[in-house]
Amino acid sequence: MTDVLARLRAMQAGDVPVHGGRTLAYVYDSGLAEADRVAREAVAAYAGSNGLDPTAFPSLLEMENDVVGMTCDLLDAPSTAVGTITSGGTESVLLAVQGARDARPDVEHPRMVLPATAHAAFHKAAHYFGVEPVLVDVGPDFRADAEAMVGAIEDSTVLVVASAPSYAHGVIDPVATIAAAAAERGVRCHVDACIGGWVLPYAARLGRDVPAWTFDVEGVTSISVDLHKYAYAPKGTSVLLHRTAELRRPQFFASAAWPGYTMLNSTMQSTKSGGPLAGAWATLHTIGDAGYLELARQVLAGVERLVDGISAFAPLRVVAPPDSTLVAFAADDSCDVFTIADAMAREGWWVQPQLSFGRQPPTVHLSLSAATAGLVEEFLGALGKAVAAAIDAGPVAVDPGVADFVRALDPATLTDEDFEGLLAAVGMNGSADGLAALSGSMAEINALLDLAAPALREALLTAFLDRLTRPTRR
Ligand SMILES: Cc1ncc(COP(=O)(O)O)c(C=O)c1O
Repeated sequence: MTDVLARLRAMQAGDVPVHGGRTLAYVYDSGLAEADRVAREAVAAYAGSNGLDPTAFPSLLEMENDVVGMTCDLLDAPSTAVGTITSGGTESVLLAVQGARDARPDVEHPRMVLPATAHAAFHKAAHYFGVEPVLVDVGPDFRADAEAMVGAIEDSTVLVVASAPSYAHGVIDPVATIAAAAAERGVRCHVDACIGGWVLPYAARLGRDVPAWTFDVEGVTSISVDLHKYAYAPKGTSVLLHRTAELRRPQFFASAAWPGYTMLNSTMQSTKSGGPLAGAWATLHTIGDAGYLELARQVLAGVERLVDGISAFAPLRVVAPPDSTLVAFAADDSCDVFTIADAMAREGWWVQPQLSFGRQPPTVHLSLSAATAGLVEEFLGALGKAVAAAIDAGPVAVDPGVADFVRALDPATLTDEDFEGLLAAVGMNGSADGLAALSGSMAEINALLDLAAPALREALLTAFLDRLTRPTRR
């Protein structure tokens, strides 16, 4: 047994670190060792419990109602509000869209109005549920253009969406105007606060200027907030709140159309581990309201220092003053953000490149955790070195022949041979191991993807994922 655990630890050593504050995407670290310890024990204690049937596992129901109640309190929910724990932000978004669609069986061709910056989870929901996304360009400040959003609402609109904040730029959409217009037309309005929902209420309590976005705003019908982000819970929990039980009802699924137990689910999963919920419950009660206030104070102070520090590097610019804990920066022509990201990884800092999109240049995304707040000076030191290295290296040059090859690819008909051809053209080994080993030296690949239009990026990365996920046979 020890051998198996030792093997697990050895494999895990190759992953980006979950703790220590040096990973600025994917993971959120409170820096509180005791909260992590309690959460780990809670997950382990409930790993085998099954949320399929709340009557068989009443403790899971008790924890769910408790966590939803705490979330209601945080987000100014009225006494009519209800909520559901899901597996993550994407599931919360999927269910918000599915519920909105199924509440309007009279609409033959349902549509949802999205700011162009809405999370990709809405595109996934569109794909799964056949709800057409109506994308509305954002303003120069990267916030949803409220007037244009309002103008896009029509009879077949079943949902209007705003983010608090958006992932890519970290700014809050004008929720009040958007929600009011949706309410006037009798349309649901979902606020995607998956990443900001557990920080912004504390930011407001700390006296920061946070525009209204919670259930305090008339017309907001549902809100998603992830516990596995800024509630610093282990992975696997988000909360989807609805203003009333009636609004939530279409989300529930029951089937007695078979000879076994009547399936009765509030979420997309049926059998689901009690581990994530127990981990979240334990985290919320260990950190507590005062603890979250303090963590928010730390992380927001860290963001201010980070923004000042980044702005002091001549080639870099923060693309939008952050409303929360997310920062995106771009670079001028003297260097390349993709090279900067690789250089940061070599220094033991994990940051996330974002490809160019529309009029937005490529950027580096940083989700700051409380654990990183005390390390900002160290981060900036590493960033200074990374920028110098990137200036030395110059912008990534994609071979013109390869660039032409990429531009000529048709995403609709991309074949395995095309993908092989591309790998050969860039001199890469297409085996799963070869592709996995790329992590940390991605600048050339990112520069190549950056040349491709979104549909081709999707096709290329799908081919990439297909190659990565091949069974290990003995
Ligand atoms: C605003 C927003 N919505 C939805 C999601 C999707 O969440 P998850 O990755 O937990 O599925 C994210 C993830 O970062 C997010 O930032």
